[in-house]
Amino acid sequence: MNYSLIHHANPYDNFNFQDYPLDLQGWGSQDPNFRKLIDELQPKLILEVGTWKGGSAIFMGEYVREKNLDCKIVCIDTWLGAVEFLTDKNDPERYISLGLRNGYPSVYYQFLANVMHQGLQDIIIPFPQTSVLAARFLMLNNIQADMIYIDASHDEKDVYDDINNYWNILKEGGVIFGDDYDEFWPGVKLAVNNFVIDNNLEILFTDRQWIIRKPKDVLPNLSENIYQRSRDNKKLALEYERDLFLYRAKYYDLEFRYTQICTDASKLNHELFSLQEQRERDARARDVLERELLTLQEQHEQEAQAREALEQELLTLQEQRERDAQAREVLEQELKEIKLSRGWKIISYYRNFCNSFYKKSK
Ligand SMILES: C[S@@+](CC[C@H](N)C(=O)[O-])C[C@H]1O[C@@H](n2cnc3c(N)ncnc32)[C@H](O)[C@@H]1O
Repeated sequence: MNYSLIHHANPYDNFNFQDYPLDLQGWGSQDPNFRKLIDELQPKLILEVGTWKGGSAIFMGEYVREKNLDCKIVCIDTWLGAVEFLTDKNDPERYISLGLRNGYPSVYYQFLANVMHQGLQDIIIPFPQTSVLAARFLMLNNIQADMIYIDASHDEKDVYDDINNYWNILKEGGVIFGDDYDEFWPGVKLAVNNFVIDNNLEILFTDRQWIIRKPKDVLPNLSENIYQRSRDNKKLALEYERDLFLYRAKYYDLEFRYTQICTDASKLNHELFSLQEQRERDARARDVLERELLTLQEQHEQEAQAREALEQELLTLQEQRERDAQAREVLEQELKEIKLSRGWKIISYYRNFCNSFYKKSK
């Protein structure tokens, strides 16, 4: 298979990969299991459902090249992220790494550049499509893969559908496998368990990865009876595990809600505390204002008293002035009279003098 099944032109042509420095951030991209499975299966076609920046695809691609295998790796991804990529807008590994340009992710270009930095254009073929549509397209074209790595959405139904759809594209004897079979991703664990139960299959585990092998059309060595019983027991065990998971999921949900309620309660407490503090501050400010008002009132009263006293003094002074004016008038009158009587005296004296002089001169 080459790129022309999916693309009209080579997707790497004319792409200026130097604009994007190498960035292989990813999750579980270098699990030793990739190499072990490649060694065992000597694959011609690997499908990866969920590629992100290409960490795991490049890890497999480099090994395929090192082993000189004639193998292609088709990377199926929308490069739009999954639900957990959208929830925390500050997550540098998910939301921010989507590299939104005018609201649309650009992480696909980081992936293309990473492949080119590592010189793996001849091995890795991008298929930007939803996992469902890509599976349908590959089926229509009768493509069969030796290894299929499922690492797209981690929601239970999506994982189940991905395994179920790609199971039909897997060669007999091939493996379908994935990451995150752990407590953090109960959806992955439940989907894998259910698929195995529904199809009477077995799961193999490595450290964190789950692996399901597609049996070749041969009967097992065990007698049919024993084989069937052991399968029934395994099925039962998986069913118990599924129930356990459901209860755990409910428990986590309740725990989550409880934490939220506690957080809300603590926020409310905090707000109440702030309000109480504010109220105390207001009461203190009010006390201060009341005291100031009292002082101002006292001052006002003192000033009114002082003003009254001054007005009283003014009144007294005016009365005094009036009395002084009257006394002055009396004095002036007396003075006038004195002056008058003195004038008369001088005149009569002078007359007497003139008379006596006259008599003498006769
Ligand atoms: C966990 S990341 C893959 C990590 C990658 N294998 C690595 O090594 O780093 C999941 C990827 O799945 C893609 N994805 C999620 N849902 C998808 C879907 N329904 N169809 C196609 N791709 C999907 C996301 O865009 C994201 O790039």
